[in-house]
Amino acid sequence: MPVSPSADFQELLAMARGFQAAKMLMAAVDLAVFDYLEEPRRAAEVAGRLQADGRAMVIFLNGLAALGLLVKEGDNFRNSDIASRYLVQGREDYRGAIIKHMEHTWDRGWNDLQNTVLRGRPGDADPEKWLDARPERDEKEVRAFICGMDAIARDLAPQVTAALDLKNVSRLLDLGGGPATYAIAFVRAYPQLRATVFDLPRPITIAQEQIAKQGLEDRIQTLAGNFLEDDIGQGYDFIWVSQILHSHDEKQCRLIIHKCVQALNAGGTLAIQDFYLHPDGASPPGPAMFGVHMLAVTPRGRAYTWGEVAAWMGEAGLTPAAHIRYNDGEASILVASKK
Ligand SMILES: C[S@@+](CC[C@H](N)C(=O)[O-])C[C@H]1O[C@@H](n2cnc3c(N)ncnc32)[C@H](O)[C@@H]1O
Repeated sequence: MPVSPSADFQELLAMARGFQAAKMLMAAVDLAVFDYLEEPRRAAEVAGRLQADGRAMVIFLNGLAALGLLVKEGDNFRNSDIASRYLVQGREDYRGAIIKHMEHTWDRGWNDLQNTVLRGRPGDADPEKWLDARPERDEKEVRAFICGMDAIARDLAPQVTAALDLKNVSRLLDLGGGPATYAIAFVRAYPQLRATVFDLPRPITIAQEQIAKQGLEDRIQTLAGNFLEDDIGQGYDFIWVSQILHSHDEKQCRLIIHKCVQALNAGGTLAIQDFYLHPDGASPPGPAMFGVHMLAVTPRGRAYTWGEVAAWMGEAGLTPAAHIRYNDGEASILVASKK
């Protein structure tokens, strides 16, 4: 049945308004509104605690209730289940960091996307200073970025661990391991394993905090450095490279893969997880959108097809072993071994 012009237009309108819900969530997380609403409270009380405008708070909390983030009973508001689980600071399963990181990516590039398309790179992007964790970046931004990675990896790491066979691995390198979520999951699942997390100096301090929280300092060591410039170590049986290539250009990706091959023992394995595109470049939707995200916030990044990455692994002398898809998700893992 043909879609009526008006229904078509409503779809466009919904797309254009999409930022409103995103910004409401980001603002609520930034203000930590959910911290005050585990108990039902009136808007005036929340406004008082946050030293906010009373009228504005009523309007804002009603909007959050309309989004399903709050429940309204009479004049009282309280957290919905999803807000209670993920958005209250200090909770075991708090994931606000990734929401804060998303907001930073708006300020750092998405808000200027049309000019980025004209220019070819984001305005504030010195090629050497993209949205990573270098000293120029505000400490809060770095923490939101790295802890945001943990918020995503937390659900995926147990599935990745189950999908990979690390029984015969003694030394593993988690390159660009960020908060060490994967390294922690790997050593927990495989008692014989020792891991090294390599990352820039500031993320490494966050990795160290996470490792210490789990009491795994004797099994996971950290190495601070720049993997494009510095030595990444030697003698690894397995190297895990997760969500790294998409923020680099082709030449850098080849260099990273080459360095991994040099650092592997004979018979060792390189596993690269990313949001791989299908060969058409426009699907699946997640990786295609993620490519635009990288365009918006990095000077050189984009999403790659799994064929491109597999070809670089082959050029570096690796033998393809598997392409692991798990979780029905859009990230997958290319595995190859060194002779
Ligand atoms: C998108 S995060 C992925 C984190 C983790 N591997 C995961 O999958 O959850 C990219 C990581 O690479 C690190 N990184 C980026 N450029 C780097 C460089 N040149 N040297 C070392 N680490 C780098 C970042 O600090 C960050 O921790």
